[in-house]
Amino acid sequence: MESAEIRRRWLSFFEERGHTVVPSASLIADDPTLLLVPAGMVPFKPYFLGEVAPPAPRVTSVQKCVRTPDIEEVGRTTRHGTFFQMCGNFSFGDYFKEGAIKLAWELLTGSVADGGYGLDPERLWITVYERDDEAERIWREVVGVPAERIQRLGMGPNFWSMGVPGPCGPCSEINYDRGPEFGPEGGPAVNDERYVEIWNLVFMQYERGDGEGKEDFPILGELPAKNIDTGLGLERLAMILQGVRNMYETDTLRVVMDKATELTGVRYGAAEESDVSLRVIADHMRTSVMLIGDGVTPGNEGRGYVLRRIMRRAIRTMRLLGATGPVAGELVDVVLASMGLQYPELLTDRRRIETVALAEEGAFLKTLKAGTNILDTAVAETKAAGGSVLTGDRAFLLHDTWGFPIDLTLEMAAEQGLSVDQEGFRRLMREQRDRAKADARAKKTGHADLSAYRAIADAAGVTEFTGYTHTEGESSVVGLLVDGLSSPAALEGDEVEVVLDRTPFYAEGGGQLADTGRIRLDTGAVIEVRDVQQPVPGVSVHKGVVQVGEVTVGAAAHCAIDLMRRRSIARAHSATHLTHQALRDALGPTAAQAGSENAPGRFRFDFGSPTAVPGSVLTDVEQQINEVLGRELDVTAEVMSMADAKKQGAIAEFGEKYGDRVRVVTIGDFSKELCGGTHVHNTAQLGLVKLLGESSIGAGVRRVEALVGTDAYHFLAREHTVVAQLTELLKGRPEELPEKVSGMLGKLREAEKEIEKFRAEKVLQAAGGLARDARDIRGVALASGRVPDGTSADDLRKLVLDVRGRIPGDRPAVVALFTVAKGRPLTVIATNQAARERGLKAGDLVRAAAKALGGGGGGKPDVAQGGGQDPAAVDTALAAVERLVAEAV
Ligand code: ALA
Repeated sequence: MESAEIRRRWLSFFEERGHTVVPSASLIADDPTLLLVPAGMVPFKPYFLGEVAPPAPRVTSVQKCVRTPDIEEVGRTTRHGTFFQMCGNFSFGDYFKEGAIKLAWELLTGSVADGGYGLDPERLWITVYERDDEAERIWREVVGVPAERIQRLGMGPNFWSMGVPGPCGPCSEINYDRGPEFGPEGGPAVNDERYVEIWNLVFMQYERGDGEGKEDFPILGELPAKNIDTGLGLERLAMILQGVRNMYETDTLRVVMDKATELTGVRYGAAEESDVSLRVIADHMRTSVMLIGDGVTPGNEGRGYVLRRIMRRAIRTMRLLGATGPVAGELVDVVLASMGLQYPELLTDRRRIETVALAEEGAFLKTLKAGTNILDTAVAETKAAGGSVLTGDRAFLLHDTWGFPIDLTLEMAAEQGLSVDQEGFRRLMREQRDRAKADARAKKTGHADLSAYRAIADAAGVTEFTGYTHTEGESSVVGLLVDGLSSPAALEGDEVEVVLDRTPFYAEGGGQLADTGRIRLDTGAVIEVRDVQQPVPGVSVHKGVVQVGEVTVGAAAHCAIDLMRRRSIARAHSATHLTHQALRDALGPTAAQAGSENAPGRFRFDFGSPTAVPGSVLTDVEQQINEVLGRELDVTAEVMSMADAKKQGAIAEFGEKYGDRVRVVTIGDFSKELCGGTHVHNTAQLGLVKLLGESSIGAGVRRVEALVGTDAYHFLAREHTVVAQLTELLKGRPEELPEKVSGMLGKLREAEKEIEKFRAEKVLQAAGGLARDARDIRGVALASGRVPDGTSADDLRKLVLDVRGRIPGDRPAVVALFTVAKGRPLTVIATNQAARERGLKAGDLVRAAAKALGGGGGGKPDVAQGGGQDPAAVDTALAAVERLVAEAV
């Protein structure tokens, strides 16, 4: 059964049983504690925690996931992949243990004809958490699994959480017995290669706190409801249903291995080590494509680094297998062809994905070259010092700065007869890891602090936002934090975080900056609000300073936002929508939004484009936007279902969270976009939009920056003043300026050439005199001397050759001229054939002269050039040349 079919069956099985099908969220997790989505439940975390009401009590999804802690295991075991697809069914307070267990059993063992996966029930083994009597009872009594195939295990394997504070609960895993050729008997408690885990059912009912590992954390309490979170590894099931030994041989990965074989000539099955390499390549290239597809670009931090690391590992592994040229293009194409069946958006986005991948490969090949040089130097130094071991810090430097994995360093050092201090290397790696862990801990504290906001939300609910229609309004203080801790009151001068039951203040989000303004309380206190954020969904936290008076929880508040700022931001935000649409019209749908910032009077908009956008296109886009302003289009917003929004063709931002109801902002007949921001009422309010240009902010992503309204006017007025000054100076109309300036530059270049010519002629005029004045040193004509300072090396050379040509060929001749240019002495010396026959070589003479000048030089026997540091030494150098000539003959 093909992967695409496994996925299809999964979704329709659960849809037929009352689950709402939810598309996979982007791999870029919308969660501050995660870099990338590691499990199917991540997008649903707020529903488990009760922070947001779920769109439906039962949902199902097939979620793209990336996990990289096991990267060294990839290819070595049969079932570790950095990218995988987690099929999940979820219940938010709906069915619980019995429902989940029965559904899982039905789907796994149901016949293929009836839409199931047709697994042999005799081969299924169950694990349950050691204290979960209820789960064991259901498996035995309700489903009928014999007791000897149910095993109880501890928290490590059978209590699931995300590894950070959040929802958690005991779990029960379903494992498949692959048969004796995969290991000894005894069930999953004994052997997880033979009894491979395929499906994990988590009975999500607690919230955990901060702590280490899988077992050492406090349980903070019960979740608002008893939930179900399950995860079935699509790749693992494919491995079983396709009858292959490991996940890399399943349909979607096998094709990538085949391509790698084609490119390297290394056959799969030839040797264990090269098989591991082929599996690593297939896994890593697929993960790379999926990450790029979701908008990650290679970099040195965070997600960008995850991508860079695995992609480079794949390319390097290709080279170790013998590939010499670029390989990314062809590998990316096979991944796109196979994964495109399940994720058609990869195919629409093909150009961008390819561009990003090729650029990263190019950068890596350069690094590899530079790193190889560093390694070669280190090897040479080690050998010169009589050593045979490359130090650990060199290996670490290569790893850390040049991305050289230790095995590459080992291999390359061995080729040159050296070993590597691996113990030292590992110590440095450990130290670095400890530093990283300490960092991560520091970050987690920030996360744990969210509990204070959550507590406010639990007590007071989410903040009602009145700012779409109001810029002022009455409300009351429902939460107050000082220094990040809940506090009943705050005093003048305190930095506070205030939560209100309703607010006209827009919290930063969707690229739009927060409102600022004032909150006045009936206690007489005034808070100046400088920023508004939503650290937990729906709860607006006003950050500011108490100007006067005392702030107390429960006080009545009057809010007033800074109206001018808000209007200016609204103009920028509406202008961003116009720009987005106009760019799509001009460049096609690949110009999708990759980020934006809407600030007072200006905005920036990031979008996908594999190449720079030509100036002429940008001019057209700008013109189109400004024409739309003149059409006085109304800007309206409407809340509707996601399905209706899609039907109307609204553009959704990349990676955006789906919800049941979405807000759609429409600008006349020109633009329709999902957006929670604040906008103008009519495009005429924008006045003017001026695009300032376009630049690259990463492979395949471009940025336009622009000014709106009076800020655009001020910019143009300034430019106008500059143009007016230039027309005044150059005495021409503005439109003549470019031509005038370019004419002037041309004339300037001509004049410089003329001057250069005159100077060269003047230098060469000296040739006749120098030849005539040549002195006779024991039968050798020596024409030597110093020519005017500032003569270029080229001119000096021309002059020397000219002088040599003027001395009759049968007479041995040496021409040695000196000059000082840019404060440094310079010499060119030439000899003719007759002089060389008498042993006079230009190269030797230059070396002697240059030594006197405090420098060096060299060249051929007939003409050579040199220089030095000390202009005062020219006479000494002249004398040295003369002496050498005299000695030689
Ligand atoms: N969330 C559970 C897991 O990732 C299903 O295993």
